[in-house]
Amino acid sequence: MDDGGLLRNLWGLKPIILTSILLVLALRIMVVLWWRPRKIEYHFAKQGIKGPPYHFFIGNVKEIVQLMLKASSHPMPFSHNILPRVFSFYHHWRKIYGATFIVWFGPTARLTVSDPDLIREIFSTKSELYEKIEANPLVKQLEGNGLISLKGEKWAHHRKIITPTFHMENLKLLIPMVGKSVEEMLDKWDQMMWEKGGGGEREVEIEVSEWFQGLTEDVITRMAFGSSYEQGKAIFRLQSHQMLLAADAFQKVLIPGYRFMPTKGNMKSWKLDKEIRKSLVKLIEKRKLENCNTNINDNNINMGNNIGSEEVGVGGDGPKDLLGLMIQAGMREDEKNNNNNNNNNNIPEINNSSLNNYAPQLSSTNNKNKITVQDIVEECKSFFFAGKQTTSNLLTWTTVLLAMHPHWQDLAREEVFRVCTSRDIPSKDDLAKLKMLNMILNESLRLYPPAIATIRRAKYDVELGGCRVPCGTELLVPILAVHHDQAIWGNDANEFNPMRFSDGVSRAAKHPVAFIPFGLGTRTCIGQNLAILQSKLVLTILLRRFSFTLAPSYQHAPTVLMLLYPQHGAPIVFRQLSEHDKETGPGCRVDQVV
Ligand code: HEM
Repeated sequence: MDDGGLLRNLWGLKPIILTSILLVLALRIMVVLWWRPRKIEYHFAKQGIKGPPYHFFIGNVKEIVQLMLKASSHPMPFSHNILPRVFSFYHHWRKIYGATFIVWFGPTARLTVSDPDLIREIFSTKSELYEKIEANPLVKQLEGNGLISLKGEKWAHHRKIITPTFHMENLKLLIPMVGKSVEEMLDKWDQMMWEKGGGGEREVEIEVSEWFQGLTEDVITRMAFGSSYEQGKAIFRLQSHQMLLAADAFQKVLIPGYRFMPTKGNMKSWKLDKEIRKSLVKLIEKRKLENCNTNINDNNINMGNNIGSEEVGVGGDGPKDLLGLMIQAGMREDEKNNNNNNNNNNIPEINNSSLNNYAPQLSSTNNKNKITVQDIVEECKSFFFAGKQTTSNLLTWTTVLLAMHPHWQDLAREEVFRVCTSRDIPSKDDLAKLKMLNMILNESLRLYPPAIATIRRAKYDVELGGCRVPCGTELLVPILAVHHDQAIWGNDANEFNPMRFSDGVSRAAKHPVAFIPFGLGTRTCIGQNLAILQSKLVLTILLRRFSFTLAPSYQHAPTVLMLLYPQHGAPIVFRQLSEHDKETGPGCRVDQVV
């Protein structure tokens, strides 16, 4: 048969081919959206694990949204039993199916795991069997493709590079600058009091969550950009703008592929992305030049060692920052590559002009460890996303708790005056001695953990607590529920009692890993030292200057949109401490509450 005949025959087969393709597609859809979920349901039911029935394509999403909307439709009493409001679907189905059940997020099964022994297995002892899941593309746009979401070798390489930023010795160098930022914020509150009260009563109502966000943003900027603080601030402002666009889309849009469409919002976001990249490239070039000028070595890329540093309050031994460490790692890799290339005589000499080596599209090698501009952009996003709201939420809830429980506020203040004596900004040694404040922060993280849950996926068919879990099943660890579990924490699990942490975190509950606000194991939060240090610092300075109560307009309405936050804000009334209180500290002793 000639070619023309063959083509004609194929053309005649077109309807059959098309029908076959459609049939295969339909079959595949049925397998993924109907048969597989049914099979998984049956698999778990056989082992005694049930859950709300799967609905075609959407799973239980409709019920979840309904339960959450209902729960958040009105505020709750001033109680810390927040699980039914914040995690309504979990609370609802746990009552019906027990603590371990299957819930469907679309066609994906999630098995809830709240037993601390099993949590330890997933995150620590058998963590190689589980992996992080990929975030929804819009969330990914928010959180960046940095440490939070990276996996495998690239994650390990980045974590190793970035870890020194968070060493306690490095963080302590931040204290004077952060202290200064806190004092500036409180001076503004003072000013507001004056303007409002004149010579009369000195008090002011502040919506603390907004102010704390500004403060934590400032600190994250210093951690990320160090001496390039001002340029870093401008870059974060662009990122902040971009995050608002993504958050907006996240709430409204469920169309697959929407983020690729040239909508007004997307075009703005792409433009911002370009601007961010451009500014970072410029900044990296500048920092590289400064580093070369100061003949930098492995251990001293930091804020203070850069020529032309605009940093205030740090000397020559300023803290290491994310940007500096990543540039340094990139330079080291380049040097290694240059040496290898020179040894191999492949490329006689590579021009070490700053930028090209960092631009991914220009990268001359295929090195997995290469640090590109895009890597730095993504890590900056991750820092901003992971560090800003989490810490400001911790500060917000702790302030709310201290306003609700004035007795504990007095105890914390008494400790601050005793430990810091006349120092307005505590020293690093003072901060280490503030045991009561530490216990209060832990109790706040227990009752109001900013991250209420985390998820892992089984990489293989695994056995967990005697249950056979098929490869691909997601495991939902409800941090909030573990923290409020009476079987673990006792009958007063829903009460604010910082004293439970008096013998340390591992002895606070019946199980040593029942307290997991920062996660567990190798992927535990890299920023936890920073979050605690910063929170202690802010609260210490705050407690020295003001006493505070909930504003009459405060409504107790914890809710969750990625993180746990106060749905109607956190208005708090601050009053200046009397001179008498400042001199003597409020007279309340710890043993009065035990
Ligand atoms: C109160 C404050 C914070 C809380 C409650 C918190 C909570 C968490 C949790 C639960 C995880 C583990 C997530 C998982 O295993 O799936 C995590 C990871 C992470 N956090 Fe935090 N975080 C806080 C502050 C910060 C800060 C200040 C930063 C950085 C500036 C930060 C950066 C990160 C990063 C980069 C990861 C991913 C680490 C990795 O996978 O290697 N966090 N955080």
